Amino acid sequence: MDEKIKIKIILGTIRQGRFGERPANWIYDQIKSWEGVDVELVDLKDYPMPFFDAPTSPAMMNMQYPNQVVQKWSDKIKQADAFIIVSPEYNHGYSSVLKNAMDWLFPEWGRKPVGFVGYGSANGARAIEQLRGVAIELKMVPISKSIHLSWEFIMKTWNEKGISNAELFAPLRNGAGTDHLAVFMADLLWTARALKAARQSA
Ligand SMILES: Cc1cc2nc3c(=O)[nH]c(=O)nc-3n(C[C@H](O)[C@H](O)[C@H](O)COP(=O)(O)O)c2cc1C
Repeated sequence: MDEKIKIKIILGTIRQGRFGERPANWIYDQIKSWEGVDVELVDLKDYPMPFFDAPTSPAMMNMQYPNQVVQKWSDKIKQADAFIIVSPEYNHGYSSVLKNAMDWLFPEWGRKPVGFVGYGSANGARAIEQLRGVAIELKMVPISKSIHLSWEFIMKTWNEKGISNAELFAPLRNGAGTDHLAVFMADLLWTARALKAARQSA
């Protein structure tokens, strides 16, 4: 199978002045030339969907939606072979805009792997643990490795004006002798290839 794996990086915050742009843009830059990968950054700001209000579950809507923005969202997500979700932590969980975006679709997510990037005072771990359960219900396959960014990452962008993403995220490529991004990508791509082959033969 020589087709590229299509990865959508979903930026899961629309907050003014959001930190989330930093890790999303950094990962995009790091993997845009990764072998065998076709990557796109998908910003929820570009998909201002209403709160979910459909009369039936998206599991029964055959990917046909009453709202044009939701239809555009569906068309984008169904292209993917794998996802990287970049999530903030708000009040011990993930963002409401991300949950709404996930709830609006169903088959578009299914049988595809997802890796999470989280940040916050507990390194985004609580938000990511909650997202894993949501992903499983959507028939996604969450990978075990995730990328956790400490509160210090966020504070550095406030305190050290002009700090570049290359300086900020260097520990993700060489922290304690481990290339965390490479380990994360190996896990995501292995799972994406296995699931893509399975979807194509189903
Ligand atoms: C409404 C709100 C609730 C928050 N709750 C938490 C929290 O429970 N845990 C945490 O680690 N950080 C929390 N924070 C701090 C966020 O992690 C921090 O503001 C981060 O920058 C948010 O991501 P964003 O800038 O990409 O939107 C909260 C921030 C906001 C605005």
